[in-house]
Amino acid sequence: MALTRLIYASRMTHPLSMFTIVEILDAAVRHNRQHGISGMLVFGVSSFLQVLEGEMDAVDLLYERILRDLRHRDVQMLSREVADARMFGRWAMGSVDLRRPAAAAAGVDIARFDPHALSPDQALSLLWQVAGAQVLPAELLADTPAL
Ligand SMILES: Cc1cc2nc3c(=O)[nH]c(=O)nc-3n(C[C@H](O)[C@H](O)[C@H](O)COP(=O)(O)O)c2cc1C
Repeated sequence: MALTRLIYASRMTHPLSMFTIVEILDAAVRHNRQHGISGMLVFGVSSFLQVLEGEMDAVDLLYERILRDLRHRDVQMLSREVADARMFGRWAMGSVDLRRPAAAAAGVDIARFDPHALSPDQALSLLWQVAGAQVLPAELLADTPAL
């Protein structure tokens, strides 16, 4: 089966509390570990950008569930491609809160964070940039052994 990398952008239905975001991440890490999914969730004041990596069926099934989630809307797939290797294999679901000062240090300007406007390449490099800059806040860091 093919390793697949899917990236999407979405908007919070209403401003989500940190509690809700941590809830989403906790459940995501548990589910993703079981299903061989890795990825990264980047969020700002009102938008999400997420990459999901794994076997095609697992990624597609998860994306269908994510599409139905009422905590966000305007879910727009930016890319879905077969990949040679995982880029985010360190994380069952890593996360980056762009509202934190450390995110600015990674060169991401939160005022301009508009994931729906990103090209597939721009979206992937933003995700890679913030993951690589290790701006992951410790309390949200979902650091897991490589899959
Ligand atoms: C922005 C966002 C990202 C999410 N990412 C994941 C994820 O990576 N893995 C996961 O299992 N659920 C994720 N979820 C939660 C799913 O949408 C869904 O609530 C969860 O899988 C439970 O689905 P179920 O109620 O159909 O069992 C995410 C939700 C949101 C709003």
